[in-house]
Amino acid sequence: MLFAIGRHPPLMHLARARHRAATAEAMAEALDADPATVEVQRFPDGERLARIEARLDDHVVLLHDLRPDERIVEALSACDAAREAGAETVTLAVPYLAYARQDRSFEHGEGVTSRALYRALSANADRLVTVDPHTSDVLGFFEGPTVGATAVPELADALGDHGVDSVLAPDEGARGRASDVAERLGCSADHLEKTRHSAEEVSMTPAALDVAGETVAIVDDIISTGGTMSAATRHLLDAGAERVLVAATHGVFAEGADKRLDDAGVDELVVTDAIDGDRATVSCAPALARGVRSLPSP
Ligand code: R5P
Repeated sequence: MLFAIGRHPPLMHLARARHRAATAEAMAEALDADPATVEVQRFPDGERLARIEARLDDHVVLLHDLRPDERIVEALSACDAAREAGAETVTLAVPYLAYARQDRSFEHGEGVTSRALYRALSANADRLVTVDPHTSDVLGFFEGPTVGATAVPELADALGDHGVDSVLAPDEGARGRASDVAERLGCSADHLEKTRHSAEEVSMTPAALDVAGETVAIVDDIISTGGTMSAATRHLLDAGAERVLVAATHGVFAEGADKRLDDAGVDELVVTDAIDGDRATVSCAPALARGVRSLPSP
């Protein structure tokens, strides 16, 4: 999906995925932009080609996913197509910044996938906007202006009707996000200490906060295997919490995550549609639109 910001007539049509059409419409309204479409053609050998029929001669925001991997090729082709169609600058709006957790070489000889990918993106797009990236450091791999906007206001709104007494982060790194949500809900925040034993298994040590009889929301950036959220949920229920809600910007939901969360006793799940899925109930469009607006003019 493409938008021409401002003065130009509508440019293109809808993205193939339904949920992105809704994201695009909401962004277009927030940005006062004209929605347009990128067509993606698949060849018999599986290769892809993006095509933009409209003539562009302006600054364009391209809303595109980077997950699953095949979308990365589409995004690169769509950036190139925008330039072929005449766009002066391309701002790539990516709801979920894939590979951000691969932010360094952990062992000798390991590639830094985020670096390789974001450099490739910056060879094709001028600016990058995303929502709640795993760390803001990885944005530095994109060689141009970037913004990591946050969906905290929308997550807090979605938690607002649930009578949350306190908000917990599952580890210290997520404490800032949990505190922001707590401030919006007018309640207290704390964090747990997480120790990761394997890709799926983590354990938690106690928070100072007394959660007995409380409704507690755990807030994180990503739910992947669900190991973090399920361990935190168990920990809080063991500590006497009455209900545990979990909220995250990105619902990756790797295989087995649903069962892990169910088995742990999660009462309610709040995730945005930055990654498409049945469980997504909160739109990432306002955050993306805020991100685009906060960039300096091209
Ligand atoms: C880690 O630092 C992240 O913030 C998340 O806590 C983590 O990626 C969640 O992964 P999982 O659901 O597999 O525990």
